[in-house]
Amino acid sequence: MEQRDRWATKLGLILAMAGNAIGLGNFWRFPYQAAVNGGGAFMIPYFVALFLLGVPIMWVEWVTGRYGGKYGHGTLGPTFYLMARESLKPRSAVIFGMIGGMLAFSVTTLLNSYYLHIVGWSAAYTYFSITGAYFGKDSVEFLLGYLSNNMQVFIFWGLSVALLGIAVGQGVSKGIERWVKVMMPALYVAAILLVLRSLTLGSPVKPEWSSIKGFEFLWEPRFSEVTFKSALAAAGQIFFTLSLGMGIIQNYASYLGPEDDVALSGLATVSLNEFAEVILGGSIAIPIAFAYLGPEKAIAGGVGLAYIALPNVFMRMPGGQLFGAVWFLLLWFAGFTSAIAMYNYLTALLEEDLKINRKTGAAIVFILYLILGLPVVLDPTKATLDLYYLTELDNWVGSYLLVVLGLFDIIVAVWLFKPDNFWEELHKGAYIKVPGWIKPIIVYIAPIYTIILLLGSTRDYYK
Ligand code: PHE
Repeated sequence: MEQRDRWATKLGLILAMAGNAIGLGNFWRFPYQAAVNGGGAFMIPYFVALFLLGVPIMWVEWVTGRYGGKYGHGTLGPTFYLMARESLKPRSAVIFGMIGGMLAFSVTTLLNSYYLHIVGWSAAYTYFSITGAYFGKDSVEFLLGYLSNNMQVFIFWGLSVALLGIAVGQGVSKGIERWVKVMMPALYVAAILLVLRSLTLGSPVKPEWSSIKGFEFLWEPRFSEVTFKSALAAAGQIFFTLSLGMGIIQNYASYLGPEDDVALSGLATVSLNEFAEVILGGSIAIPIAFAYLGPEKAIAGGVGLAYIALPNVFMRMPGGQLFGAVWFLLLWFAGFTSAIAMYNYLTALLEEDLKINRKTGAAIVFILYLILGLPVVLDPTKATLDLYYLTELDNWVGSYLLVVLGLFDIIVAVWLFKPDNFWEELHKGAYIKVPGWIKPIIVYIAPIYTIILLLGSTRDYYK
């Protein structure tokens, strides 16, 4: 049998996992979700979700992926089947394999149908920053102009997807690993540069609008303003940013050997991502928008915060072309190294379940993604920037479906697989010993918290 691809180096693996997690979620989605859900009021359920769901489910997914990997299955269905078989008859276990596989498949395909577009916007805006195309223009008008020019949209989006296809076609160790080893360090350097810029930004418009106000908005806890809606949004953001509930952490972890560490590596993924999210991501878009646009407009920025509010700022900032280009290139790298994981997930599915050669598989996925992305291009509400399809999908998939799949993860990989087996798997080859008090968090608290969030938000939705 042909040897299955493996990560070539530890560093490559950690950078790939960090690249998988660190994405547009950190720099585009986190600031706008935090802004629309009350800043400091959002951060409370955010950290609760990080410890009760983020870290536990990250471990669950690393364990699931490595466990499935040794059977040569890169995809989720078979792995869920094998795990469910610990407590169910094979026939019933098949159902869990099928549901899990289909859930993961739907999440990745739906997510990427809009995510890749935002990756494309980032490529376009990198180019527009270098040429100064949006300078001196109204930022909303400019984005509208860009989106209504289908040819232009297609070039930047199609080019990004094609590059992804090339990288994935080269394989895991020879493709993905090499690309992320360049992009991830560059991403950190770019982010740190922008944070330094944002920290030193007074407001040229009104003296009371300094970037410090943005930090206060985000870091001043306001317990009384926490709601179910913000708690679900926060949990959804934790899932989104850590790439949980998508099947892609499992997919990357399936390229591990049976004795490779998952406990410390999972924790490292969370830490690298959270550093990039709350420290770096939280110190760029919001403070910069606060300084130049004032609190109200900064908070109302919504989905457009990164692509409308910030261009508006760069054009008025000394060295704006450079900082603009750095910001959008950062977004592009972040989006690219995440999308590559989604891309690989589908390619691996074709390769391992349908025995299609990797390069051909990558080409099929390329075409599939272009078709899946068409609703965003054809969406008539893009003319008003409502982007109905994109926003609805981001809410449904990004805040809801991910959490559903996360719950499913725990049911199968912890409950059906049996908590003791799970705990043992987690510690196989582990560099650290996870303290015993964390076990009940994974086994009981995480699923209960997830169920409460799902029920609460469903009720809010129908109210
Ligand atoms: N964690 C990724 C992010 O923050 C989520 C993601 C991965 C989304 C892959 C889409 C595709 O952006």
